[in-house]
Amino acid sequence: MIQVWDRLVRLLHWTLVAAIATAWLSTLDLGIGWTHERAGYVAAAAVSIRLMWGWAGRQYARFDQFVRRPSVVMAYSQKLWRHVEPRHIGHNPLGGWMVVALLACIAGTAFTGWLQTTDRYWGSEPLEIVHTWMAWGLLGLITLHLIGIIFTSLRHRENLVLAMITGRKSPPHGNDVA
Ligand code: HEM
Ligand code: HEM
Repeated sequence: MIQVWDRLVRLLHWTLVAAIATAWLSTLDLGIGWTHERAGYVAAAAVSIRLMWGWAGRQYARFDQFVRRPSVVMAYSQKLWRHVEPRHIGHNPLGGWMVVALLACIAGTAFTGWLQTTDRYWGSEPLEIVHTWMAWGLLGLITLHLIGIIFTSLRHRENLVLAMITGRKSPPHGNDVA
């Protein structure tokens, strides 16, 4: 086995999962309060650290490793369509853009949430609508994220969720992309 996801990537990932689940669950009961806002801020902090790590980190944590040009994404999608897509040790080209979309959507949701606590936008209805829609958009992205992970795990017969826990994956072989 080789080390793919470093400690910080894994810690931030599971922090995001916990924070967003808490932010969502806290909308179900007594309305928006302390828990909701704190959870949103934790998610925003995790995104900020992840952004820095995307530049400062190493290998599979780096954005330049997994955010690929549209032509590469197209080529990968075509292979996917023909069921001949290679296994990627890091994020695959579609997964890489999903990471960008998730991070951007979390940042936007937290930002529009925070804006509602400022004097200027306190009680702003349009902002409330944008914030709620972004939160639903995020839920949609998370659903696609999970579908992608289940699909890819089945295709390449490897447990990607376990890899996000332990950080380890089996080494590249055949035409795998390292
Ligand atoms: C709030 C929900 C979630 C968010 C916002 C989220 C976000 C992310 C992000 C940003 C990454 C990129 C990791 C990085 O390079 O830093 C990622 C990867 C990953 N996530 Fe999630 N995630 C969520 C839920 C989950 C859940 C519930 C699971 C598993 C049950 C999961 C499994 C994975 C796996 C396996 C990867 C690695 C994908 C790959 O091999 O390319 N995620 N997720
Ligand atoms: C990034 C994670 C976040 C998610 C997933 C999220 C999700 C949501 C959702 C779904 C609602 C609508 C609830 C409803 O209509 O009953 C909502 C409302 C709200 N959120 Fe967030 N939120 C997040 C972060 C934040 C942050 C960081 C703040 C402020 C510091 C915040 C402040 C608010 C406020 C004030 C409302 C009330 C709007 C209303 O009256 O309906 N949210 N949020």
